[in-house]
Amino acid sequence: MSRRSVPATISGLVDHVDYMVDLNRIATSELEDGFMSGRVSRRQLLLGGSALFAANALQSIPGGGFLPGLELMRSAHAQDAIPKPDHIIRMSSNENPWGPSRVALRAIYNAIDEANLYSFYGNPLPELISRQQNIDRDHISLGAGSAELLKVGGLLAGMRGGSIVIPHPTFEDLPDYAEANGTEVIRVPVDGDMKTDLEAMASAIRADTRLVYLCNPNNPIPNVIEKNALRDFIVEIARDRMVFLDEAYHEFVDNPDYSTMMDLVRNGQRNLIITRTASKIHGLAGLRVGFAFSHPELAREITDRQTGLQNIVGIRAAEASYQDEEHSNFVLRTARESLDIVESYLRSAGIKFIESNANFSFIETGHPIEEVQARFLEENIQVGRPFPPFTNWMRLSMAKPGEMRYFVQTYKTLYG
Ligand SMILES: Cc1ncc(COP(=O)(O)O)c(C=O)c1O
Repeated sequence: MSRRSVPATISGLVDHVDYMVDLNRIATSELEDGFMSGRVSRRQLLLGGSALFAANALQSIPGGGFLPGLELMRSAHAQDAIPKPDHIIRMSSNENPWGPSRVALRAIYNAIDEANLYSFYGNPLPELISRQQNIDRDHISLGAGSAELLKVGGLLAGMRGGSIVIPHPTFEDLPDYAEANGTEVIRVPVDGDMKTDLEAMASAIRADTRLVYLCNPNNPIPNVIEKNALRDFIVEIARDRMVFLDEAYHEFVDNPDYSTMMDLVRNGQRNLIITRTASKIHGLAGLRVGFAFSHPELAREITDRQTGLQNIVGIRAAEASYQDEEHSNFVLRTARESLDIVESYLRSAGIKFIESNANFSFIETGHPIEEVQARFLEENIQVGRPFPPFTNWMRLSMAKPGEMRYFVQTYKTLYG
C-alpha cells in the first residue's frame, strides 16, 4: 500500500482494513518515526504482537501527538512547515532507515540465547545463499560485513606487490587497506559524465597491477557501468589479474543498462570476486554480514586470509531477512519514494544531481560541502562527508519519506 493511499484522517486510519493489514505485515511502515521518537520501541512491537499493538496505537492517536511520523505526513500533505526533529536524522552513511525486518528482529531476540556460541558450526547462510543465488557453496565466502572481504581483496593484491587500479571517486575500503599493506593505488578519474571510465582504467593498468576494483553502482556517485562493456572488461582484464566487483547496492538497481556479473562466477570465471552485503536493503549494517562470490580456489584464499568471524546474532538475522522478500520490497518502495521527493525538488529548482541507482543521491550544492554539512547539522540533519574532487557535491543517503520532506524544506530554507 503506498503512502499516497493512506487516508487523511486518523479515524479513517483506524477503520482502514488494508492499512491495518499492512501495519501487521510490515509493522513499522507507516508508523515510521514513532520508533525513532523512542515512544514506541521495536521490542514493544515485537513482543506485543504487531496487529494488536497497532490497533491500540491507532486508537490512542486522537489524544494527539502519539506518532510524530503521522504528524510529519499530515504536515507534508497540508503544506505546513515540518517541525525540526528532536534528534539527528542520519542521511550520511547509506544506512537503511527502517532497520531490520520484523522477522529479523524476532530472530535477533531469539539468537541472544546463543551468544555464548562460536558461529563456525552449523552456519545456515552458505546453504541459503547458495540456493538463492543458484551457485555452489564452494564459491561463497562469508565476511564480517562485505568490508572485511573488500579488505581481504586489498590484502591479496598487496601480498603480491605492485599496484591496484580503481575509479576515482569510489568506495575506498579496499584501496585504503591495500595501500596500508604497501600496494600502490592508481586512481582513474571518472569521465565527463561522472561515470566509471573503463577505457581509461584499462589504459592505467601496468604490468605490476594485481587487482582492478569496480563498484557497481558506484559510491558516492550512484550511476552504473553499462553491462556489456562491463562484461567484456572483466573477461579481458581477469585473464591476468583479479577484478573485484563490489555490488553492495545491487538490490536497489532498476536500470536496463545494469546487470550483475554473478553468472560469470557461477560459470567458473577465474580471478573475479563479487561482493554483496546484508547492510543495505536488509538493514543489518550493525550486525556485520557480507558475502563474496568467486572461483573455489580464490574463495579458499579469501577464507584463509580472513581475520574475523561473523557473529551469531548477525547470522540468525540474515537467515531470517534473506527469506523476507516483503521487507526488501518495502525498503525498495520507500527508498524510491524518498528519492522521488528529493529528485523532484532538485529538478524543479534546477539543481544538478546524478540519477540514483541506489539508496543515495549525489547533488551539486555549489557550496563547500563542509559548510553545507555544518548548516544541515544545525537543523538536525547529518549529510555525507566530502568526496574530493567533488567538494561542492553532497552525498545524501535516503532516510524515510517524511524525513526527506523535512530535508527538502530545510534545503529550500538554507539555499533556496
Ligand atoms: C560500495 C560499498 N561497498 C561496501 C560497503 C561496506 O558495507 P558492509 O561492510 O557493511 O557490508 C559499503 C558501505 O557503505 C559501500 O558503500
